[in-house]
Amino acid sequence: MRVLGIESSCDETAAAIVQDGRLLLSNVVNSQIDIHAVYGGVVPEVAARSHIEVVNPVINQALTEANLTWDDIDAIAVTYAPGLIGSLLIGTLAARTLAITKNKPLYPIHHVEAHVYANFLGTTPPQFPILALIVSGGHSQLVLFKDHGDYKLLGQTQDDAIGEAFDKVAKIIGLPYPGGPSIAKAAVNGNPLAYKLPKAKLSGAYDFSFSGLKTAVLRAVQHEVNVDIDFPSSGLPGLLDATQKANFAASFQRIAIETLVDKTEKAFVDFSPKTVVIAGGVAANQELRRILSERLPIQIEYAPINLCTDNAAMIATLGYYQSLKQSPIDPYILEVQPSLSMTKA
Ligand code: KG4
Ligand code: ZN
Repeated sequence: MRVLGIESSCDETAAAIVQDGRLLLSNVVNSQIDIHAVYGGVVPEVAARSHIEVVNPVINQALTEANLTWDDIDAIAVTYAPGLIGSLLIGTLAARTLAITKNKPLYPIHHVEAHVYANFLGTTPPQFPILALIVSGGHSQLVLFKDHGDYKLLGQTQDDAIGEAFDKVAKIIGLPYPGGPSIAKAAVNGNPLAYKLPKAKLSGAYDFSFSGLKTAVLRAVQHEVNVDIDFPSSGLPGLLDATQKANFAASFQRIAIETLVDKTEKAFVDFSPKTVVIAGGVAANQELRRILSERLPIQIEYAPINLCTDNAAMIATLGYYQSLKQSPIDPYILEVQPSLSMTKA
């Protein structure tokens, strides 16, 4: 069975074709990073406009790269939740129209759940029960998957997502957008013990919080360059030298990653999963991969970097597994759900 996946929930327009939930036949991602970098973050209206311009060419390219025609496609899967409303609308409208005109079954996909399915591509799918640490620009969650479609949310962030914290801290210290890769790169040359930053204490055993850490970095930078809290934060990067920036990047990254690893380790001990998976854009972080692998007595599974960040291969893969258990949705009634949580999907 060949599924065409379509993804447009944030700033990537993507289409991919996956066979039987494991064989990747094509994977096209049009990233808007350059467009949004000028503003230091994603501008929703600009994102939606860009999706409109490229969604059809991206889908056609996915067919061309797989050397397939519409006759070879058995189903369409599309991200309908969560994400930016204007962005989600473009992908779902394209998918609904194609499902109707090409007469294909349509499967609505939850983006956060789909991140985990990047790990199902390839020859050996992860074994259930799976403990998944899903860490992206919009989400930080620990989820226990007992089977396909059967999962329990163990914990999640109470404020900022971890990727969002990387992006905001990068902005404070003057590193380019997106902040995750910039911080990881700068941190290589920094001392992770240079600045003392706090780990949030929360009542939920598997919950996260990153907003306080971000503010602690801001205060530490203000202290370092000797300005008070009223000083405009846009002026801070100009007062930091390259060594200070690298030290802030490394110190922040250390605490952020330790927080993720501490909670994942606790969940591992409490639930004894067969597999531990990290998924989402922040799963691209090499230090997270390394430290989690060091701390847990099990091999940690993660996808190649281009399948950790937003893509449509993960959408098509989950679409395949969904088609085995569920009926397709009526393309005339599918609506986007910008803030739907994974457990309500
Ligand atoms: O999954 P994703 O592509 O989009 C969302 O669904 O949010 O994740 C994007 C996030 C951004 O916040 C970006 O800064 C972060 O993933 N990211 C990283 C790295 N690469 C991307 N964070 C830390 N280290 C990285 N190497
Ligand atoms: Zn994502």
